[in-house]
Amino acid sequence: MAVLKVLNRIGFIVFACVASVAWADDGDAASQSTVAASNSPYPPLHLTDSRHTPEQIKHGEYLVKMADCFTCHTNEAENGKAFSGGLKIDTPFGSLYAPNITPDKKTGIGNWSNEQFVRAVREGIAPDGSYYYPVFPYNYFNKMSVRDVLDIKAYLDAIPAVSQRNHPQEMKWPFNYRVLQLGWRLLFFNFSAGELKSEPDRSASWNRGAFIVEGPGHCALCHTRLNYFGVPEKSYYLAGAFVEDYYAPNITSQGLKLLNNRQVANIFLHDEMPTRAKLGGPMKEVEHNSLRFLRDNDMMAIADYLKSVKSKSPPVEVEINRSFSHVKGKKLYQSSCAMCHRNQLMGAPGIDKHVWNILLDQGRDKLYEVAIRGSGNMPAKGGCDACSNGRVKAAVDHMIFLAGKNRAAHTETPSKRVHKLKPR
Ligand code: HEC
Ligand code: HEC
Ligand code: HEC
Repeated sequence: MAVLKVLNRIGFIVFACVASVAWADDGDAASQSTVAASNSPYPPLHLTDSRHTPEQIKHGEYLVKMADCFTCHTNEAENGKAFSGGLKIDTPFGSLYAPNITPDKKTGIGNWSNEQFVRAVREGIAPDGSYYYPVFPYNYFNKMSVRDVLDIKAYLDAIPAVSQRNHPQEMKWPFNYRVLQLGWRLLFFNFSAGELKSEPDRSASWNRGAFIVEGPGHCALCHTRLNYFGVPEKSYYLAGAFVEDYYAPNITSQGLKLLNNRQVANIFLHDEMPTRAKLGGPMKEVEHNSLRFLRDNDMMAIADYLKSVKSKSPPVEVEINRSFSHVKGKKLYQSSCAMCHRNQLMGAPGIDKHVWNILLDQGRDKLYEVAIRGSGNMPAKGGCDACSNGRVKAAVDHMIFLAGKNRAAHTETPSKRVHKLKPR
C-alpha cells in the first residue's frame, strides 16, 4: 500500500524531525461533500451531542478531512473502524502504532479534557507529560488556532466510540525513551511560532492557501526534500522530493507554470492530472481521504498560494554506487510516467508489446535518451528534475518489462498506435 510506504518516510522524522501539520478552517460545511457522499470512509455523526453545536462539529470534521487524521488513525488495510487506531508505521527506529482517538472512555480519548487535547495536537505533549514522536505531525498542526483544534475535538466527540486497545509502541532502544524527543523538540520545534499569521499584503485567498498548505495539509512532508535530520529544507520548499522512490513533483510556481489556477484546483477536485489521467501513486491516497473533500474556493486558494511559491530546484540525486532495478523503476513509472503512458495521452506510446518492439528497434539507448532529454510532448525525465539518469532508465526498463507482458490485452489496434509515434 502506497500510503504505508509514505509513512515510512515520515518515520525518518521520528527521531529527527519534521515540520508541522496544520489545516485550514472553514465556514459552512454544508457543501462539502457532493464528492464524498458516495464512498466516504467517514463515520456517521451524533449531531445531537449537547456539549457542542452542530456548526462546531461540522467545522471540526472539515479540518479533520484537511488534515487527513483518518489515514494514520485508521487501520484501513485490516478493515479497522474509523479513527480506532492500529495503523503500524515502520521507522528506522522501530514501529509506531497510531492510537485510538475515538471517544471511548477506556481505550480512546473520551476522558480527555480540552486542555489535554489542545496540548497534544498543538504541542505534542501527552496528558502524562511525555513527548509524542513527531510522526504525529503536531508541528504542522500548531498552525491551527486553539479554536480550530477544539472544533476537531468536538468532531471526535461526535463519532462512534470504538473499544480497541492501543498497541504498545515498539521503538528500539534508546528511542523508546520518549524523553529523548526533548532534544529534537529543542532543536526543531518552534514552540512560540504557533498559529499561522496572515500576511496583510496578500489576498485572503492566498492567506487561506498558505494556511492549508503549511498547516493541516502538511504538503511539505512529501513535496520538500528532507535534510539529514528529516527536516524539510527551506530553500527547496515544495520543489519536489522522493517519497520511498515515488516522486512527489515540484508544486511551486516553477513546477506548475504550465497550468492555470483552475487546472491546479482540478487536480484535487477530480483526482486527476491536467492530462486527464488519474493520479497514480501516494497522492491518490492523500486525496482519497482528504483533498477531494475541500470546497472549491479552498482548492483555488491552494492553487493561488502554490503558484506564488519560488524555490530553488533540488539537485539531481547522487548516483554513486547505486544501481536501479526495474522494480525501483516501477515506483517512478507509477508516480511520473504512467499518467501519460498507461493511457496513451498526448501521443505517448502505450504499454504494448508490439509498439515497444518497434521502439526498441532504435536501440535501448535511444529510448533512454528521449526519456532523459524529453521530446515533443514528452517532458524531460517525466518532470522529475531531481531524478538521476539511472533512475529514469530504470523506469524505461520497467516500461519495456510491462510491455513485454502486455500483448493479449492490446492486440486490436497496434498499427494505429504505431502511426501516432513520430518518425525519428
Ligand atoms: C502522519 C500520521 C498521523 C496523522 C496525519 C495524524 N496523526 Fe495523530 N498520531 C499519530 C501517531 C503515530 C501518534 C502516536 C505518537 C506517539 O505515540 O508518540 C498519534 C497520536 C495522536 C494523539 C494522542 C493519542 C493518545 O492516546 O495519546 C491524538 C489525540 C492524535 N494523534 C490526534 C490526531 C488528530 C486530531 C489528527 C488530525 C488533525 C492526527 N492525529 C493526525 C499519527 C498521525
Ligand atoms: C503523502 C505524501 C504527499 C502529501 C502529504 C502530499 N502530496 Fe502531492 N503528490 C505526492 C506524490 C507522490 C505525487 C505524484 C503523483 C502521484 O504519485 O499520484 C503528488 C502529486 C501532486 C500534484 C500533481 C503535480 C504534478 O505536476 O504532477 C499536486 C498539484 C500536488 N501533489 C499537491 C499537493 C498539495 C497541495 C498537498 C498538500 C495539501 C500535497 N500534494 C500533499 C505526494 C504527496
Ligand atoms: C506528459 C506526458 C508524458 C509523461 C509524464 C511521460 N511521457 Fe514518455 N512520452 C510522452 C510522449 C508524448 C511521447 C512520444 C514523444 C515523441 O514521439 O516525440 C513519449 C515517449 C516516450 C518514450 C519513447 C521514446 C521514443 O523513442 O519514441 C519513452 C522511452 C518514454 N516516453 C519514457 C518515459 C518515462 C520513463 C517517463 C517517466 C519518467 C515518461 N516517459 C513520462 C509523454 C509522456
